[in-house]
Amino acid sequence: MTAADTAPEHPPSYYRHHIFFCVNERANGEACCAQHAAQQAFEHCKARVRALGLAGPGQVRVNKAGCLDRCAGGPVAVVYPEGVWYTYVDTADIDEIVASHLRDGVVVERLRLPPDVGR
Ligand code: FES
Repeated sequence: MTAADTAPEHPPSYYRHHIFFCVNERANGEACCAQHAAQQAFEHCKARVRALGLAGPGQVRVNKAGCLDRCAGGPVAVVYPEGVWYTYVDTADIDEIVASHLRDGVVVERLRLPPDVGR
């Protein structure tokens, strides 16, 4: 028997959920997530995840990202490993994503980004 025979097919991910917030800013006036308070949403999410005791290995990681190329639907965030894309309006929306998806594993359908939204 080799190590490969006993290794799980998909070892557990370092983080249970990983959420990326686009915080990209464009100086040329084109649409960008920074126009929609994306940085504040990122900071709010990070603080909320920490406050609920969800941060760290085996749990949740909140990261900034550059342009995710779905600017027309901005502000956007994406949760892995599910690959669920969200758009949001205010901190209440962020709180709902944290409590429902990141803590309870239930996708927030009303905040899903439509599948055809691109740049
Ligand atoms: S600027 Fe946010 S997805 Fe492009």
